[in-house]
Amino acid sequence: NTSQHAKYYDILRDAAVFYYKNLRVHPEAMLYLEKRGIHMDVVKQFGLGFSNDAWAELLKSMSQKYSTKDLESVGLIIANKDNTSYYDRFRNRIIFPIINPKGKVIGFGGRVMDDSLPKYLNSPETEVFNKSQTLYGLNLAKSKLSDKKQLIIAEGYMDVIALHTYGFTNAVATLGTALTADHGRLMRRYADEVIICYDSDFAGQKATLRSLDVLRGLIDKVKIIVLGENLDPDEYLKKYGSDKFREKIDNAITATEYRINHLMQAYNLNNDQEKIEFLSKAVLIIGELSNAFEKNLFIDNLSNQLQVSRELIAQEVFKENYNAN
Ligand code: UTP
Ligand code: MN
Ligand code: MN
Ligand code: MN
Ligand code: MN
Repeated sequence: NTSQHAKYYDILRDAAVFYYKNLRVHPEAMLYLEKRGIHMDVVKQFGLGFSNDAWAELLKSMSQKYSTKDLESVGLIIANKDNTSYYDRFRNRIIFPIINPKGKVIGFGGRVMDDSLPKYLNSPETEVFNKSQTLYGLNLAKSKLSDKKQLIIAEGYMDVIALHTYGFTNAVATLGTALTADHGRLMRRYADEVIICYDSDFAGQKATLRSLDVLRGLIDKVKIIVLGENLDPDEYLKKYGSDKFREKIDNAITATEYRINHLMQAYNLNNDQEKIEFLSKAVLIIGELSNAFEKNLFIDNLSNQLQVSRELIAQEVFKENYNAN
């Protein structure tokens, strides 16, 4: 209920302030952020913090004001095995508060400063935190969209922070979960166009294909940026800068281009058998397009690229289309 939720928001806000102030007195955490190119202004903008390398610092500080039951309900503390005591969920981690579009802190992400695992820990689902309906950075991005009403969606906390820092203030991220239809509907409330910019490693490519399926029918304009070299947006920006990234946005490809390019990678097109297999699958992708001009464009491209008769490809594309209806 609402008064309960209001209390949860207060607790989470207080916790964010606790972590934020705590960062200032931990030079090792400041140094970590500095090394990753995050300066004080960005720390402030995102409200970043630090949780101590201790079992119950937050609990100690906050249990004067709030009950352990409430602190547990918002995911900040965890009961030990026999329920005799509690300990802090986030320990020795850089803290990323997750803030909803209304400006309420609803959860946290926490990153280790070394190679230990898990690299990131997130708040559990609570009454006020639903991961499949939350986009990190939307609280900042929503008021900074240009007339184009375009959102960039990335994978992670550091990607959103880097993108905003380099001037791409329309960036958001899902939080260690696959993109859901709820995420899609949330984006549709703010944007007309969504640009997917995931890590360019294999996992990111698979996630891109999945997200394209989820967004189909929800968002009319979806484009994809392929960064290459296994880079993520944070790494790309640090290596190549914002002008190059701007070019990537301008040259972002459509869902169909992405699907065909991705499919193409799996085949050796100098081998006739593989070429046939590729073509048989490619015509299915093209057949799904509703626009006949667009279909034609892809048919032309394939025909040129593979030296296969245009009429033959078209015949297969429209045959598949006929079957689908
Ligand atoms: P990545 O492994 O790509 O991390 O996970 P990253 O965002 O590039 O982080 P840095 O640059 O190493 O600091 C992408 C996202 O998946 C979620 C986080 O939201 C992360 O930002 N994730 C990843 C988790 O929730 N838990 C994990 O253990 C790892
Ligand atoms: Mn310390
Ligand atoms: Mn990754
Ligand atoms: Mn990454
Ligand atoms: Mn990264």
